[in-house]
Amino acid sequence: MPSPLSTRAFPLGSRRVGRIGYGAMQLAGPGVFGPPKDRDAALAVLREAVASGVNHIDTSDFYGPHVTNQLIRAALAPYPDDLVIVTKIGARRGADASWLPAFSPEALTQAVHDNLRNLGLDVLEVVNLRIMLDPHGPAEGSIEAPLSTLAGLQQQGLVRHIGLSNVTAKQVAEARRICEIVCVQNHYNLAHRGDDALIDALAGDGIAYVPFFPLGGFTPLQSSALSDVAQRLGVTPMQAALAWLLHRAPNILLIPGTASLAHLRENLAAGDIELPADAQQTLDGIAP
Ligand SMILES: NC(=O)c1ccc[n+]([C@@H]2O[C@H](COP(=O)([O-])OP(=O)(O)OC[C@H]3O[C@@H](n4cnc5c(N)ncnc54)[C@H](OP(=O)(O)O)[C@@H]3O)[C@@H](O)[C@H]2O)c1
Repeated sequence: MPSPLSTRAFPLGSRRVGRIGYGAMQLAGPGVFGPPKDRDAALAVLREAVASGVNHIDTSDFYGPHVTNQLIRAALAPYPDDLVIVTKIGARRGADASWLPAFSPEALTQAVHDNLRNLGLDVLEVVNLRIMLDPHGPAEGSIEAPLSTLAGLQQQGLVRHIGLSNVTAKQVAEARRICEIVCVQNHYNLAHRGDDALIDALAGDGIAYVPFFPLGGFTPLQSSALSDVAQRLGVTPMQAALAWLLHRAPNILLIPGTASLAHLRENLAAGDIELPADAQQTLDGIAP
């Protein structure tokens, strides 16, 4: 019998992936810089994720840099046929661990080749263009130039599908006039709801929406309403937060990040949680 992870699948490019994937950013060292404290533990998390049915992993060569992709390759290559690894380009790391824009045609091309080499792939299944006009949140401005470079790399056969990250609805519309966009990855969770309208519009067009920081990222979600609902359902607050996202819209694909096997198991189990209407309503009310 197929697992709930795969039965509730949604298209991502030319594949269907489970609603609960895995975000690999937390596997690098502190501040997403340098090697992990425990390499074997990081490899074990990746292997267990895939063994449990995860077929969507989110990464970037600027995590580490290079570290996360190298861990994914060490843990999982040769890759299962159904595994979709989604990466992102558009930034680079300074020597002080800062996150810097890297949007020139040369930098974008180099980033695609870095991802191919460190993941050990001939083609990248999905590449998100991570917009850095404002690194901390979407900011208006044309993305035509960098997107055209990425579309050129797609035409060369190095990239199968293109997505966007840290973008406004206007930029999504601009991008869709340039090339097919298969997913949007923005900051969203039950306390950060700026993309509600965008999510619904993308759902109508069958485009995946992949919230980053689904659990609050570096400042984990904390809310008494969330804790109360979780207690009532007999789950953890983080599981309730993930269940809320799964119920929020059918095109939401989750990529919770963790370096812990116990948290990975908890996050995957969130796919089995039924959210009664009153619980959903309470959680809906958390955002201002
Ligand atoms: N496009 C972008 O700009 C962008 C930006 C940020 C992230 N991302 C992607 O989005 C993915 C998810 O974001 P994220 O990892 O930063 O944030 P997140 O998934 O919201 O939260 C991760 C944090 O929550 C903790 N956690 C995970 N599961 C937990 C559980 N069941 N119970 C308690 N704590 C738990 C983790 O610590 P432990 O390790 O201790 O579990 C970690 O500190 C990343 O891995 C990355 O692939 C993309």
